[in-house]
Amino acid sequence: NSHLIDEPTKEHDTLIASLPLQPSLERTITFAGHTRLYKDVWMRENIIRGILVMQQCLKTRPTDIFLASFPKSGTTWLKAMIFATLTRTNRSIDQHPLHTHNPHQCVMFMDVGFATGRSQIIENIPSPRVMSTHLPYFLLPDSITESNCRIVYVWRDPKDVLVSMWYFVQKILGGADKIATFDQYYKNFYEGLNSYGPIWNHVLGYWEESKRRPEKILFLKYENILQEPVKCAKQLAHFLGCPYSEAEENQGVVEQIVELCSIKTLKNLDVNKDGNHATSTAPNVHISHAYYFRKGETGDWKSHMTQEMAERFDTMIEEKFKGSGLHI
Ligand code: A3P
Repeated sequence: NSHLIDEPTKEHDTLIASLPLQPSLERTITFAGHTRLYKDVWMRENIIRGILVMQQCLKTRPTDIFLASFPKSGTTWLKAMIFATLTRTNRSIDQHPLHTHNPHQCVMFMDVGFATGRSQIIENIPSPRVMSTHLPYFLLPDSITESNCRIVYVWRDPKDVLVSMWYFVQKILGGADKIATFDQYYKNFYEGLNSYGPIWNHVLGYWEESKRRPEKILFLKYENILQEPVKCAKQLAHFLGCPYSEAEENQGVVEQIVELCSIKTLKNLDVNKDGNHATSTAPNVHISHAYYFRKGETGDWKSHMTQEMAERFDTMIEEKFKGSGLHI
């Protein structure tokens, strides 16, 4: 009975209801449920439900490509870049689907898709499938970690992630009663109580794995892509197994892809100014595409944190990263 296989079951609900509830500011219930502790990571109930179902029924294909990221680290950008890179020969850049579709409509967020009845849609996507996840590496289903498929990971200065997240959550939740002050948000993030767990563990998990299997995990940094977009676009295409030909490079195709996926282009498209889509987290909730595009710069934390807050944060992260070879 397929219903039993790919839908959340009573046992899942019982397990979830037994997990500790988040005591801090994320205690507010959202469309994705309460925040609970699952395997030492705080997550919304719908995400946990997705993990449980996905572990049972995701059938990873060797050609699958997963984009992994901590939320607000450049997911939208990398969705656009990966999608545009893979589909660049199908049609001319001026008629590319990214002109009329938000990147989140082109690449599915799969974590909760499995909790909200989308597993068949995911199964039906033709190869090579591109999907995205915010799960830490150690929580990925075995089907992914054992499949040898490709994973692109993007990370970003955690201080900018925090600022970006704060704006995003306010827009999504709306209603002043649910909004924490920036200082409360900072404290929560500093203590690693936010959804998907401490950002340093998230980044380190993928970093270690990318060192072990560099041909299968591409580890990118948002700031580096901003600085050298063309170089990173070529690196991405090479990793995805579809490097740019000399002819393409001479015709300026790499620059065209970079331009198409830039925040300046995407933000000003009608679909991203006025459009919205049903989030896979809760299909009855629509998210405005505009929420995904804010500044797209580095260092916006300077307008939100005191020097002391920033230094305290950096010191803590450097301590966590110690010995790994990673630096902010
Ligand atoms: P800011 O809030 O700092 O501007 P995610 O896509 O993971 O949700 O991350 C959102 C962040 O990426 C936001 O950062 C957003 O503005 C930025 N962003 C979205 N699209 C981008 C693009 N095409 N290029 C660069 N940054 C982008």
